[in-house]
Amino acid sequence: MQWQLVFFRSGSRKNEAMQPIAEQVNNEDIRNLSGYFASLTPPKASAPDDNPDLSKKGAEAAMGRRCASCHGDTFAGSKAVARLAGQREDYLVKALHDYKSNLRVGGGVAAMAEVAYHLSEVEITALAHYLAHL
Ligand code: HEC
Repeated sequence: MQWQLVFFRSGSRKNEAMQPIAEQVNNEDIRNLSGYFASLTPPKASAPDDNPDLSKKGAEAAMGRRCASCHGDTFAGSKAVARLAGQREDYLVKALHDYKSNLRVGGGVAAMAEVAYHLSEVEITALAHYLAHL
């Protein structure tokens, strides 16, 4: 999350709500905020899986696209690679669209732009559903 604030501040990740806020935080604030949020217990999936067939497709897509090679076997992420397990479905869809359309440029040598470019709408829907229910 440290890098996300830096990206919002520099404008390389664009969001009308976050940018003016990120512009006001200095490097020490960013370190402290990141340390605090990282110390919170990650949430569990918010709702029971109402579409296991879609999750199965998402799991297959995650396997085929090797998402776990960076995000970890349990999709918990590590260091600058984001946690995906239990993240909200709408947010995951938005994030993948933003990478795919180059609205969001991540760290890790554009790793996600490269990954998302190849994802179909069907895969994005299935991946988001699967990951949100882990
Ligand atoms: C080569 C390594 C790599 C692979 C493979 C990869 N990712 Fe990522 N992913 C990253 C990195 C690094 C970030 C953080 C980028 C940033 O700072 O915006 C990220 C961020 C994300 C985010 C944003 C999370 C957030 O909290 O904003 C999503 C969603 C995501 N990845 C989904 C996927 C999915 C789904 C796959 C498989 C289709 C995948 N990733 C494969 C490296 C990878």
